[in-house]
Amino acid sequence: MERAGGGLFGIALVAVGSGPGVDDMSFARLSSTKTLIMGIILRTRAFDQGSNEVIVSRLIHPTENLHGDRPAAATEQGLADAKELAAAAFQRTRMPIVLTDARAPDNPIVLANQAFLKLTGYAAQEVVGRNCRFLQGPDTSPHAIAEIRAGLGQERITNVEILNYRKDGSTFWNRLHISPIHDEDGKLIYFFASQIDVTELRKVQALEASERRLLMEVEHRSKNVLAIVESIVRVSDARDPRAYAAVVRKRVQALSSVHSLFSERGWEDIPLGDVARLLVTPLCGARASFHGPPIRLSPVTLQPLGLIFHELASNAAAHGALTVPSGTVAVTWEADAAGLTIFWQESGLVGPAGGTQDGFGTVMIDATVERQLSGRIQRNRNNAGLTVTIALPELARLPA
Ligand SMILES: Cc1cc2nc3c(=O)[nH]c(=O)nc-3n(C[C@H](O)[C@H](O)[C@H](O)COP(=O)(O)O)c2cc1C
Repeated sequence: MERAGGGLFGIALVAVGSGPGVDDMSFARLSSTKTLIMGIILRTRAFDQGSNEVIVSRLIHPTENLHGDRPAAATEQGLADAKELAAAAFQRTRMPIVLTDARAPDNPIVLANQAFLKLTGYAAQEVVGRNCRFLQGPDTSPHAIAEIRAGLGQERITNVEILNYRKDGSTFWNRLHISPIHDEDGKLIYFFASQIDVTELRKVQALEASERRLLMEVEHRSKNVLAIVESIVRVSDARDPRAYAAVVRKRVQALSSVHSLFSERGWEDIPLGDVARLLVTPLCGARASFHGPPIRLSPVTLQPLGLIFHELASNAAAHGALTVPSGTVAVTWEADAAGLTIFWQESGLVGPAGGTQDGFGTVMIDATVERQLSGRIQRNRNNAGLTVTIALPELARLPA
């Protein structure tokens, strides 16, 4: 248990103004020596039976067996004047400070400095005699309050960040430090607390955290795009340099059109259907149809998927169902607890498929599904055309 066996004898010199029902406070000096203070006379305005105003005076004695913390560093002169200097420091520091009486019912404030009044916006008579919970409000965390309660109950040092309210209703984040003050017999007599307004600091920290998240996201996305470009360059058919350059360009263009769509929409998740239409319609026109729930996906998923749609559409136009006038393509998708499944269904061919499929495109689609999207791909070719099923189990329970 943390103990501060000391007193507030000197600090009592700067007791804030007056408490509720207390009109005046003065110090009784029963000795002419500068530092010996025997008590405080508290004058309270009251009324007698004949409704006449009377002043009631009460002498409050300082706690005898309470002696202040020794300064961490002091000269002899500094030590001799320590009580007055401590009182001046208490009042002048820019750190808000309060002291509460742990022996009195509900732990009321007995001292508060100017910085505390400035921070909270209350006047001296509005804080003295009250429990500090008047600073809490509707959005103050009950967990933080419970943490303080537990710390006080165990008479230990407690550090908590808690949302507090000023007199005008505005809020501030209070980095609160509370420590118990015991007398020489180890009896708890006061609590000391300092309050630091960390509202601005928290804003800066939140901004820094979101900047860091953004940078990590940018890095993740660029790595993802570069991996896709690398796979395009690696698996495209390089036997004919001219054809190679053309096919790489088209694939990179497909990727870039998905990038532009995300950029236009502020990098929010966008509907799968929008990307399917963007890539398939230029190659298949009105002969392509799209159907599926309004699933929104991130760039990390839709960039590789866009490339797959581009490949499938190019194949359909060059070698598949769209080589005949009656040929059509249906792109459908469904999502359930098992993940997202995309169906590419060509139909309209009569008899065996015409040309052979571009093997390099196939390799690229397979690699993209398996490596980038951790999915599985299944192809089925019949006389009416090609059917491709892409299962992406990692995209289970997608938000609509
Ligand atoms: C010295 C001292 C200073 C305190 N200062 C604050 C404060 O600045 N803000 C606050 O929300 N609570 C403060 N508290 C905590 C409340 O006074 C109270 O102890 C807390 O709400 C838990 O008790 P309760 O459950 O009875 O409300 C302080 C407590 C002590 C002892």
